Amino acid sequence: MKTIVAYKSKSGYTKRYAEWIAEELGCDIKEDPELSDIMGYDTIIYGGGMYAGGFNGVKLITQNLDKLSGKKIALFAVGSNPGREHEMRPFWDRVLKGAQGIGHFYLRGGFDYDKLTPGDKVLMSMLKVRLQSKKERTEDEQGMLDAYDRPVDFSDKENIKALTEYVRS
Ligand SMILES: Cc1cc2nc3c(=O)[nH]c(=O)nc-3n(C[C@H](O)[C@H](O)[C@H](O)COP(=O)(O)O)c2cc1C
Repeated sequence: MKTIVAYKSKSGYTKRYAEWIAEELGCDIKEDPELSDIMGYDTIIYGGGMYAGGFNGVKLITQNLDKLSGKKIALFAVGSNPGREHEMRPFWDRVLKGAQGIGHFYLRGGFDYDKLTPGDKVLMSMLKVRLQSKKERTEDEQGMLDAYDRPVDFSDKENIKALTEYVRS
């Protein structure tokens, strides 16, 4: 079975997970993939960061499901949220839109303001102002606010286990 890990990563957290997965499975790896890069594989693993509730680059997979039919597909999203059910279920519903048989996993990454693109810095500064102006913040919101001052990194190689087991099964 030919397997590839394809990914898009803005600040490096998805890249690190993709490298761990490729190393564990001994498979190929491709950053910023095009459809032609992944078509020749039996198993396709795609990873991208979560951005404002979206999944960076996943349309490569979800808009080409007809062309990819018959292949085993596993998606991994990397975000800074703790991965709670109430946040992740609507996210996967939006991504998968009812598509069946696609493995999907959330791998917690981190947040490093200094590594953001200028555009993302503007977006995140707006979010910061909004969070600061709240009279009460949830634990997650406070955690997000604290992360502006010092980078947070929750990435852990152990987190890839469920995905690699799914791919091998
Ligand atoms: C503009 C912006 C929006 C983000 N939106 C979310 C989000 O909706 N949910 C989440 O869990 N993390 C969010 N994050 C955090 C990123 O998903 C997190 O930093 C992730 O590790 C980035 O992975 P990457 O560096 O591989 O792209 C956001 C970060 C930025 C800069």
